[in-house]
Amino acid sequence: MTRIDALWPQAAEDLREEQILAAYAPPQVPWLRMNFVESLDGAVTREGLSGGLGGAADRRVFDLMRWWADVILVGAGTVRAEGYGAMRLSVDAASWRRAHGLAEQPVLALVSGRLDLDPSSPLFVEAPVRPLVLTVEEAPRRARERIAEVAEVVDAGTSVVDPTAARAVLADRGLGRIHAEGGPTLFGTFLAAGAVDELCLTLAPTLEAGGVGLIARSPESAPTAMRLAGILRGGDELLLRYTREAGDPQRSSASEDSSASEDSASSRIDAPLS
Ligand SMILES: NC(=O)c1ccc[n+]([C@@H]2O[C@H](COP(=O)([O-])OP(=O)(O)OC[C@H]3O[C@@H](n4cnc5c(N)ncnc54)[C@H](OP(=O)(O)O)[C@@H]3O)[C@@H](O)[C@H]2O)c1
Repeated sequence: MTRIDALWPQAAEDLREEQILAAYAPPQVPWLRMNFVESLDGAVTREGLSGGLGGAADRRVFDLMRWWADVILVGAGTVRAEGYGAMRLSVDAASWRRAHGLAEQPVLALVSGRLDLDPSSPLFVEAPVRPLVLTVEEAPRRARERIAEVAEVVDAGTSVVDPTAARAVLADRGLGRIHAEGGPTLFGTFLAAGAVDELCLTLAPTLEAGGVGLIARSPESAPTAMRLAGILRGGDELLLRYTREAGDPQRSSASEDSSASEDSASSRIDAPLS
Protein backbone atom coordinates (compact mmCIF):
# COMPACT_ATOMS: atom_id res chain seq x y z
CA MET A 1 0.00 0.00 0.00
CA THR A 2 1.41 3.41 -0.96
CA ARG A 3 2.45 5.42 2.02
CA ILE A 4 0.70 8.77 2.39
CA ASP A 5 1.79 11.48 4.84
CA ALA A 6 -0.10 14.57 5.93
CA LEU A 7 1.91 17.79 5.59
CA TRP A 8 -0.65 20.44 6.50
CA PRO A 9 -2.57 21.63 8.55
CA GLN A 10 -1.14 18.92 10.84
CA ALA A 11 1.83 16.76 9.99
CA ALA A 12 1.32 13.01 10.38
CA GLU A 13 3.19 10.08 8.90
CA ASP A 14 1.90 7.02 7.09
CA LEU A 15 -1.81 7.72 7.41
CA ARG A 16 -4.17 4.85 8.02
CA GLU A 17 -7.25 4.49 5.87
CA GLU A 18 -9.47 6.03 8.60
CA GLN A 19 -7.17 9.07 8.80
CA ILE A 20 -7.32 9.63 5.05
CA LEU A 21 -11.08 9.29 5.12
CA ALA A 22 -11.25 11.76 8.02
CA ALA A 23 -9.20 14.26 6.01
CA TYR A 24 -11.79 14.08 3.22
CA ALA A 25 -14.97 14.26 5.32
CA PRO A 26 -17.22 16.85 3.66
CA PRO A 27 -17.25 19.82 6.05
CA GLN A 28 -20.97 20.37 5.48
CA VAL A 29 -23.87 19.07 3.42
CA PRO A 30 -24.69 19.90 0.68
CA TRP A 31 -21.10 20.02 -0.55
CA LEU A 32 -19.74 19.74 -4.07
CA ARG A 33 -16.19 18.49 -4.35
CA MET A 34 -14.40 18.44 -7.70
CA ASN A 35 -11.47 16.08 -8.11
CA PHE A 36 -8.68 16.35 -10.67
CA VAL A 37 -5.12 15.31 -11.34
CA GLU A 38 -2.79 17.50 -13.38
CA SER A 39 0.86 17.59 -14.32
CA LEU A 40 3.26 20.21 -12.94
CA ASP A 41 2.81 22.20 -16.15
CA GLY A 42 -0.98 21.99 -15.92
CA ALA A 43 -1.78 19.20 -18.38
CA VAL A 44 -5.07 17.45 -17.67
CA THR A 45 -4.39 14.28 -19.65
CA ARG A 46 -1.65 12.14 -21.14
CA GLU A 47 -2.64 10.48 -24.40
CA GLY A 48 -6.22 11.55 -23.77
CA LEU A 49 -6.58 9.99 -20.32
CA SER A 50 -6.15 11.21 -16.76
CA GLY A 51 -4.91 7.79 -15.62
CA GLY A 52 -1.57 8.38 -17.35
CA LEU A 53 -0.88 11.23 -14.91
CA GLY A 54 -2.05 9.85 -11.57
CA GLY A 55 0.27 7.61 -9.56
CA ALA A 56 -0.35 5.20 -6.69
CA ALA A 57 -1.13 7.87 -4.07
CA ASP A 58 -3.60 9.58 -6.38
CA ARG A 59 -5.36 6.28 -7.05
CA ARG A 60 -5.53 5.42 -3.35
CA VAL A 61 -7.07 8.76 -2.40
CA PHE A 62 -9.29 8.81 -5.53
CA ASP A 63 -10.88 5.52 -4.38
CA LEU A 64 -11.29 6.63 -0.77
CA MET A 65 -12.89 9.95 -1.71
CA ARG A 66 -15.68 8.01 -3.39
CA TRP A 67 -16.52 6.41 -0.05
CA TRP A 68 -17.97 9.72 1.15
CA ALA A 69 -20.18 10.34 -1.87
CA ASP A 70 -23.96 10.21 -2.02
CA VAL A 71 -23.52 10.82 -5.72
CA ILE A 72 -20.65 10.72 -8.18
CA LEU A 73 -21.13 13.40 -10.78
CA VAL A 74 -19.33 13.16 -14.11
CA GLY A 75 -19.54 14.72 -17.55
CA ALA A 76 -20.38 12.59 -20.57
CA GLY A 77 -17.04 13.41 -22.22
CA THR A 78 -15.15 11.83 -19.33
CA VAL A 79 -17.43 8.80 -19.30
CA ARG A 80 -16.80 8.30 -23.03
CA ALA A 81 -13.03 8.93 -22.85
CA GLU A 82 -12.30 6.99 -19.69
CA GLY A 83 -14.74 4.14 -20.40
CA TYR A 84 -16.60 4.27 -17.09
CA GLY A 85 -18.13 0.98 -15.98
CA ALA A 86 -20.75 0.32 -13.32
CA MET A 87 -20.23 2.41 -10.18
CA ARG A 88 -19.81 -0.33 -7.59
CA LEU A 89 -17.62 0.30 -4.56
CA SER A 90 -15.82 -2.51 -2.73
CA VAL A 91 -17.35 -4.62 0.05
CA ASP A 92 -15.17 -2.75 2.57
CA ALA A 93 -16.40 0.57 1.24
CA ALA A 94 -20.04 -0.57 1.43
CA SER A 95 -19.75 -1.66 5.05
CA TRP A 96 -17.86 1.52 6.02
CA ARG A 97 -20.60 3.55 4.33
CA ARG A 98 -23.35 1.65 6.16
CA ALA A 99 -21.58 2.30 9.47
CA HIS A 100 -21.44 6.02 8.63
CA GLY A 101 -25.12 6.32 7.72
CA LEU A 102 -24.61 6.38 3.95
CA ALA A 103 -26.25 4.19 1.31
CA GLU A 104 -24.10 1.17 0.49
CA GLN A 105 -23.43 2.43 -3.02
CA PRO A 106 -23.38 5.98 -4.40
CA VAL A 107 -25.56 7.04 -7.32
CA LEU A 108 -23.72 7.77 -10.56
CA ALA A 109 -25.02 10.99 -12.13
CA LEU A 110 -24.00 11.78 -15.70
CA VAL A 111 -24.25 15.22 -17.27
CA SER A 112 -25.02 15.24 -20.98
CA GLY A 113 -26.81 17.54 -23.40
CA ARG A 114 -26.70 15.31 -26.50
CA LEU A 115 -27.29 12.01 -24.67
CA ASP A 116 -24.79 10.30 -26.93
CA LEU A 117 -24.51 7.44 -24.43
CA ASP A 118 -24.69 3.68 -24.92
CA PRO A 119 -27.65 2.25 -22.99
CA SER A 120 -26.15 -1.25 -23.21
CA SER A 121 -22.96 -0.11 -21.43
CA PRO A 122 -22.14 -1.88 -18.11
CA LEU A 123 -22.28 1.59 -16.61
CA PHE A 124 -26.08 1.29 -16.95
CA VAL A 125 -26.92 -2.40 -17.12
CA GLU A 126 -24.64 -3.52 -14.28
CA ALA A 127 -25.19 -0.53 -12.04
CA PRO A 128 -26.04 -1.47 -8.43
CA VAL A 129 -28.13 1.72 -8.23
CA ARG A 130 -30.07 3.13 -11.18
CA PRO A 131 -27.93 5.96 -12.60
CA LEU A 132 -29.21 9.49 -12.95
CA VAL A 133 -28.73 11.43 -16.19
CA LEU A 134 -28.92 15.21 -15.93
CA THR A 135 -29.77 16.64 -19.30
CA VAL A 136 -31.58 19.49 -21.07
CA GLU A 137 -35.04 20.09 -22.50
CA GLU A 138 -33.53 20.25 -25.99
CA ALA A 139 -31.93 16.80 -25.76
CA PRO A 140 -32.73 14.55 -28.75
CA ARG A 141 -36.04 12.74 -28.09
CA ARG A 142 -35.02 9.30 -29.40
CA ALA A 143 -31.83 9.25 -27.34
CA ARG A 144 -33.76 10.35 -24.27
CA GLU A 145 -36.23 7.47 -24.68
CA ARG A 146 -33.41 4.92 -25.00
CA ILE A 147 -31.53 6.18 -21.96
CA ALA A 148 -34.74 6.44 -19.91
CA GLU A 149 -35.00 2.64 -20.08
CA VAL A 150 -31.80 2.24 -18.07
CA ALA A 151 -31.53 5.45 -16.05
CA GLU A 152 -33.55 8.22 -14.47
CA VAL A 153 -33.38 11.12 -16.94
CA VAL A 154 -34.01 14.59 -15.51
CA ASP A 155 -33.93 17.99 -17.19
CA ALA A 156 -31.78 20.61 -15.48
CA GLY A 157 -31.70 23.34 -18.12
CA THR A 158 -32.88 24.26 -21.60
CA SER A 159 -29.82 23.98 -23.86
CA VAL A 160 -27.08 23.41 -21.26
CA VAL A 161 -27.26 21.82 -17.83
CA ASP A 162 -27.56 24.65 -15.33
CA PRO A 163 -25.33 23.78 -12.34
CA THR A 164 -27.69 25.38 -9.82
CA ALA A 165 -30.62 23.39 -11.21
CA ALA A 166 -28.47 20.25 -11.24
CA ARG A 167 -27.60 20.73 -7.57
CA ALA A 168 -31.29 21.22 -6.78
CA VAL A 169 -32.15 17.94 -8.56
CA LEU A 170 -29.56 16.14 -6.43
CA ALA A 171 -30.71 17.86 -3.22
CA ASP A 172 -34.32 16.79 -3.92
CA ARG A 173 -33.11 13.18 -3.91
CA GLY A 174 -31.14 13.58 -0.68
CA LEU A 175 -27.83 13.46 -2.57
CA GLY A 176 -25.97 16.23 -0.75
CA ARG A 177 -22.42 14.85 -0.75
CA ILE A 178 -21.51 15.42 -4.36
CA HIS A 179 -18.23 14.02 -5.58
CA ALA A 180 -17.51 15.29 -9.07
CA GLU A 181 -14.84 13.65 -11.22
CA GLY A 182 -14.78 16.21 -14.04
CA GLY A 183 -14.06 16.65 -16.76
CA PRO A 184 -12.91 20.13 -17.69
CA THR A 185 -16.14 21.21 -19.41
CA LEU A 186 -18.24 20.15 -16.46
CA PHE A 187 -15.82 21.83 -14.03
CA GLY A 188 -15.76 25.03 -16.11
CA THR A 189 -19.54 25.35 -16.22
CA PHE A 190 -19.96 24.56 -12.54
CA LEU A 191 -17.16 26.96 -11.57
CA ALA A 192 -18.64 29.78 -13.65
CA ALA A 193 -21.96 29.26 -11.85
CA GLY A 194 -20.32 29.38 -8.40
CA ALA A 195 -21.44 25.78 -7.82
CA VAL A 196 -18.12 24.26 -6.70
CA ASP A 197 -17.29 24.17 -2.97
CA GLU A 198 -13.97 22.38 -3.09
CA LEU A 199 -11.23 21.32 -5.45
CA CYS A 200 -9.10 18.27 -4.72
CA LEU A 201 -6.10 18.46 -6.97
CA THR A 202 -3.30 15.97 -7.30
CA LEU A 203 -0.09 17.44 -8.64
CA ALA A 204 1.56 14.67 -10.60
CA PRO A 205 5.37 14.81 -10.71
CA THR A 206 5.68 15.15 -14.46
CA LEU A 207 5.99 17.84 -17.11
CA GLU A 208 3.97 17.06 -20.21
CA ALA A 209 4.06 20.05 -22.60
CA GLY A 210 2.21 19.49 -25.87
CA GLY A 211 -0.67 21.95 -25.48
CA VAL A 212 -3.04 19.81 -23.44
CA GLY A 213 -5.90 21.85 -21.92
CA LEU A 214 -6.71 23.19 -18.46
CA ILE A 215 -8.67 21.29 -15.81
CA ALA A 216 -11.51 23.84 -16.11
CA ARG A 217 -12.86 25.05 -19.44
CA SER A 218 -15.61 27.60 -19.94
CA PRO A 219 -16.39 30.19 -22.62
CA GLU A 220 -15.49 33.02 -20.25
CA SER A 221 -12.96 33.23 -17.44
CA ALA A 222 -14.36 32.72 -13.94
CA PRO A 223 -11.82 33.83 -11.29
CA THR A 224 -12.72 32.12 -8.02
CA ALA A 225 -10.82 32.74 -4.79
CA MET A 226 -9.90 29.52 -2.99
CA ARG A 227 -8.36 28.74 0.41
CA LEU A 228 -5.88 25.97 1.10
CA ALA A 229 -7.54 23.33 3.29
CA GLY A 230 -5.06 20.47 3.35
CA ILE A 231 -1.95 18.90 1.86
CA LEU A 232 -1.09 15.21 1.71
CA ARG A 233 1.96 13.73 0.10
CA GLY A 234 2.49 10.30 -1.38
CA GLY A 235 5.93 9.80 -2.87
CA ASP A 236 6.44 12.69 -5.31
CA GLU A 237 2.72 13.42 -5.61
CA LEU A 238 1.09 16.28 -3.71
CA LEU A 239 -2.61 15.97 -2.93
CA LEU A 240 -4.02 19.44 -2.42
CA ARG A 241 -7.40 20.41 -1.08
CA TYR A 242 -8.78 23.91 -1.65
CA THR A 243 -12.18 25.21 -0.57
CA ARG A 244 -13.98 28.21 -1.96
CA GLU A 245 -13.36 31.36 0.01
CA ALA A 246 -15.88 31.63 2.90
CA GLY A 247 -18.47 34.37 2.54
CA ASP A 248 -17.96 34.45 -1.20
CA PRO A 249 -20.78 32.35 -2.58
CA GLN A 250 -20.05 33.38 -6.15
CA ARG A 251 -16.76 34.46 -7.58
CA SER A 252 -14.43 36.95 -5.96
CA SER A 253 -11.92 38.83 -8.01
CA ALA A 254 -8.30 37.73 -7.99
CA SER A 255 -7.22 41.27 -7.13
CA GLU A 256 -9.44 41.38 -4.04
CA ASP A 257 -8.03 38.09 -2.94
CA SER A 258 -4.37 39.02 -3.27
CA SER A 259 -4.79 42.28 -1.35
CA ALA A 260 -6.69 40.44 1.40
CA SER A 261 -4.02 37.80 1.82
CA GLU A 262 -1.22 40.39 1.98
CA ASP A 263 -2.97 41.99 4.91
CA SER A 264 -3.42 38.75 6.80
CA ALA A 265 -1.34 36.10 8.47
CA SER A 266 -1.71 33.96 5.35
CA SER A 267 1.44 35.61 3.95
CA ARG A 268 3.42 33.59 6.54
CA ILE A 269 5.44 30.78 4.99
CA ASP A 270 5.67 27.43 6.82
CA ALA A 271 7.92 24.46 6.22
CA PRO A 272 6.86 21.05 7.57
CA LEU A 273 8.84 19.81 10.56
CA SER A 274 10.91 16.76 9.76
N1 LIG B 1 -7.05 14.94 -15.18
C1 LIG B 1 -8.21 14.62 -14.65
O1 LIG B 1 -8.33 14.51 -13.43
C2 LIG B 1 -9.41 14.42 -15.55
C3 LIG B 1 -10.69 14.28 -14.96
C4 LIG B 1 -11.77 14.10 -15.80
C5 LIG B 1 -11.60 14.06 -17.17
N2 LIG B 1 -10.37 14.20 -17.71
C6 LIG B 1 -10.16 14.16 -19.15
O2 LIG B 1 -10.89 15.20 -19.76
C7 LIG B 1 -11.23 14.81 -21.09
C8 LIG B 1 -12.70 15.08 -21.35
O3 LIG B 1 -12.89 16.47 -21.30
P1 LIG B 1 -14.35 17.06 -21.44
O4 LIG B 1 -14.28 18.51 -21.16
O5 LIG B 1 -14.98 16.60 -22.70
O6 LIG B 1 -15.06 16.31 -20.21
P2 LIG B 1 -16.50 16.41 -19.59
O7 LIG B 1 -16.74 17.72 -18.94
O8 LIG B 1 -16.61 15.19 -18.74
O9 LIG B 1 -17.46 16.19 -20.81
C9 LIG B 1 -17.99 17.19 -21.61
C10 LIG B 1 -19.34 16.71 -22.03
O10 LIG B 1 -20.15 16.55 -20.84
C11 LIG B 1 -21.40 17.11 -21.06
N3 LIG B 1 -21.49 18.33 -20.28
C12 LIG B 1 -20.57 18.84 -19.40
N4 LIG B 1 -21.06 19.94 -18.83
C13 LIG B 1 -22.28 20.13 -19.37
C14 LIG B 1 -23.30 21.11 -19.18
N5 LIG B 1 -23.16 22.10 -18.28
N6 LIG B 1 -24.45 20.99 -19.91
C15 LIG B 1 -24.62 19.99 -20.78
N7 LIG B 1 -23.70 19.05 -21.00
C16 LIG B 1 -22.55 19.12 -20.29
C17 LIG B 1 -21.52 17.33 -22.54
O11 LIG B 1 -21.92 16.06 -23.03
P3 LIG B 1 -22.66 15.74 -24.41
O12 LIG B 1 -21.59 15.92 -25.43
O13 LIG B 1 -23.11 14.33 -24.26
O14 LIG B 1 -23.77 16.72 -24.55
C18 LIG B 1 -20.10 17.67 -22.92
O15 LIG B 1 -19.80 17.44 -24.29
C19 LIG B 1 -10.90 13.34 -21.23
O16 LIG B 1 -9.72 13.22 -21.98
C20 LIG B 1 -10.69 12.89 -19.80
O17 LIG B 1 -9.76 11.84 -19.71
C21 LIG B 1 -9.26 14.40 -16.92
